[in-house]
Amino acid sequence: MRIQPEYPALVMAARAAREQAYAPYSRFAVGAAALTASGRLFPGCNVENAAYPACLCAERVALVNAYAAGEHEIVALAVVADTPGPVSPCGTCRQVILELAPRCVITLANMRGDTLQTTPDALLPGGFTAESLPD
Ligand code: THU
Repeated sequence: MRIQPEYPALVMAARAAREQAYAPYSRFAVGAAALTASGRLFPGCNVENAAYPACLCAERVALVNAYAAGEHEIVALAVVADTPGPVSPCGTCRQVILELAPRCVITLANMRGDTLQTTPDALLPGGFTAESLPD
C-alpha cells in the first residue's frame, strides 16, 4: 500500500495520552491515539497491574476505546514512547491491530520526534485472521 502523509496531530494526541499512563511497575509510559473515519480521536495509554499479565498496552486501549464508542473504521493509529527509535508494538498488539484496524496507517514515534509509518500487514506478516478460521 502507498505510504500516506504523516499524521502529526495524531502523534500529538498520542503524546498527550501518554501523560495518563499508569505504569508504576515498568515506569515505561506509552501513549496511543486512534483516528476514525468519522474524524474522531480516541486516546489510549498503558494501564498496568500488579498481576503483570493483566497489563494493558496503550495501542489496545486506544482501539478498544474506539470500538466501545461504536467506531470500527480506524483509519490511522499513532503510538509513542521514550525509546531510542520509533516504539515497536508488542506481538499481542500487532495481532489486535490486525483484527481491529486492518487497513489503518500506523505511525510509530518516540519522544525525540523520530517516526516510522507502517501498516498492520507489515507489522504482522501472515497474521492469524478471520480468514484463517474454518467457515
Ligand atoms: N507497552 C505498550 O503500552 N505498548 C507497546 O507497544 C509496548 C509495551 C507497555 C506495556 C507495559 O505497560 C510497558 O509498556 C512495558 O512493557
